[in-house]
Amino acid sequence: TDFETILLERKGRVGVITLNRPKALNALNSQVLKDVVAALDELEGDAEVGAILLTGSERAFAAGADIKEMAPQTYIDMYGTDFFAGWDRLANARKPTIAAVAGYALGGGCEVAMMCDILIAADNAKFGQPEITLGVIPGIGGSQRLTRAVGKAKAMDLILTGRNMDAEEAERAGLVSRIVPADQLLDEALKAAEKIASMSLPVAMIAKEAVNRSYETTLGEGLRFERRVFHSLFALDDQKEGMAAFVEKRKPNFTHK
Ligand code: HXC
Repeated sequence: TDFETILLERKGRVGVITLNRPKALNALNSQVLKDVVAALDELEGDAEVGAILLTGSERAFAAGADIKEMAPQTYIDMYGTDFFAGWDRLANARKPTIAAVAGYALGGGCEVAMMCDILIAADNAKFGQPEITLGVIPGIGGSQRLTRAVGKAKAMDLILTGRNMDAEEAERAGLVSRIVPADQLLDEALKAAEKIASMSLPVAMIAKEAVNRSYETTLGEGLRFERRVFHSLFALDDQKEGMAAFVEKRKPNFTHK
């Protein structure tokens, strides 16, 4: 399928979505959302895809929601269309997702990166929630996901002043999983995605679901959820294969079932 604002490729078992509106620093307009959602539907429906990588350009992952598109909107336009709600598709993806971020990840760009399971940053990455400088606040999860990722102190600092943080500060704060040199970002992110995609797909999906559960519930309920799904894994072919491979001192050959 051809898309207007993104590129979609498959590299082995990894689906790669590249945001591609270079003239607008990948600003996230309605077409980008439409394209990303269609790409996610395609990749999640493809049994040969075991991980999804979302990236931008070396200059910008995404410089935010498209300010020119938002500027004239009224309250009823925003409320009536539930503007931005479509991005929940990414947060709710069942397969593992990695954001590979170089350059600007501002506003909606930072929020979209935070919807992914793993965030790998290039050393030139810049993160921020500058919405307050435009007279609004984060609207795709920034006030919630950033606060959970970095704590109240830094979230308030970033969201109230609108300042950016560089990759080092973002890693120290717990927002990013790892930092790599900008020219190695795609290779390193792809390696991580390939590694994940080589595991049993249902097991990776369930592992992701279990970690995400910790954000939605109490410790006791989360532990009970983990125990139940852990037990259920013993119904899978891949549990038999993974453990047999260890005992036989060989590499597992998962069939993803
Ligand atoms: C629309 C954008 C854009 C954006 C950049 N562009 N960001 N267009 N929406 N978010 C466009 C510029 O207008 C310009 O196009 C082109 O991209 C290059 O940008 P420049 O500003 O010329 O580049 P530079 O000087 O290098 O500065 C880069 C930058 C700056 C620091 C990232 O572009 C910037 O501050 N952008 C806005 C960042 C921001 O505020 N994001 C949050 C948006 S609100 P033209 O054609 O004009 O030359 C949001 C959440 C909303 O994301 C949720 C609440 C409802």
